[in-house]
Amino acid sequence: MNEILNIDCFEWLAGREPKSLHAVCTDPPYGLVEFTPGEVAKLRNGKGGVWRIPPSFDGKKRNPLPRFSVLTLEQRQNIEKYFQQWAEALLPALIPGAHVLVASNPVLSSHVFQGLLSSGLEPRATLMRVYHGFRGGDRPKNAEQEFPDLCVSPRGNYEPWLLFRRPIEEKTVAQNLRKWGVGALRMLENGGPVPDVIPSSKTPAIEKSISDHPSLKPQQLLRFLCRMVMPTEGILLDPFMGSGSTIAACEAIGIDSIGLEVDPHYFSAATETIPRLAKLYPRYHGGHLEMEAPQYSREAPNQPLLLEEGANYLA
Ligand SMILES: C[S@@+](CC[C@H](N)C(=O)[O-])C[C@H]1O[C@@H](n2cnc3c(N)ncnc32)[C@H](O)[C@@H]1O
Repeated sequence: MNEILNIDCFEWLAGREPKSLHAVCTDPPYGLVEFTPGEVAKLRNGKGGVWRIPPSFDGKKRNPLPRFSVLTLEQRQNIEKYFQQWAEALLPALIPGAHVLVASNPVLSSHVFQGLLSSGLEPRATLMRVYHGFRGGDRPKNAEQEFPDLCVSPRGNYEPWLLFRRPIEEKTVAQNLRKWGVGALRMLENGGPVPDVIPSSKTPAIEKSISDHPSLKPQQLLRFLCRMVMPTEGILLDPFMGSGSTIAACEAIGIDSIGLEVDPHYFSAATETIPRLAKLYPRYHGGHLEMEAPQYSREAPNQPLLLEEGANYLA
């Protein structure tokens, strides 16, 4: 079961019953500026602002990405303050031992991390989603011929997900689990521990055809992460749900969830995208990683899990 609301998460958290959330998995506006109404208007008009279309080197059209290198020192320091205030608002609503998993970006993650740390949340790990990215790796702009063997920054092929926990209140994790049902992570379905490096794909075309949100995350990744942070029955919150991919992942694998989104356009899109994303890949419940070849299903290694356009994804 899921509940979604068109609301500012700070406002919602202020009224939330204490100790009533079992987990958080979210992809927040970690640069802060990119989802302000002014920047979203520029994104929708396709002109100016922090959003940029990555250069096309293979003729394929790319989705816009926020350009975080334009942030000033003050803007980066504000990220820290924002995430501290956000986590302070969240903490009372979390059950002791509840995990909080926050997507970030290699350039900004230290600011997000510091903000979360200052709130009193306990750092547990940084998970690396490894995928084929499009950030960085470019030659100096307008001087590509002059400096053919130099690139300004490394090509980004990972995305850090910061894992925190509300400190347990009992003496041991086992006691905390017995009393509150949370405090530990769910292992893989084959009994293996969850790894901190997660091979992933970029968001598949079929999912992008369902949602036009510029930060849409893949179902494969989200189903894996949501299953991992929910060791028991309970409620998972995504306070920055965008078009609802986390909520769809929860629906697909049977986790109760609450999704919040402040932007009316994305909220209204979520009401349609959630059921459609949740119906994709009915055999994948996040209990294993599609390690060596993310595009193939383990049960049927010769059958692509992420089929080509026009194929039947609900089979
Ligand atoms: C990075 S996007 C999440 C996209 C999501 N991963 C998806 O797959 O669609 C962050 C979202 O948070 C929303 N947002 C920003 N500030 C918010 C706030 N205070 N409360 C609720 N939503 C907020 C933005 O409008 C944006 O859609």
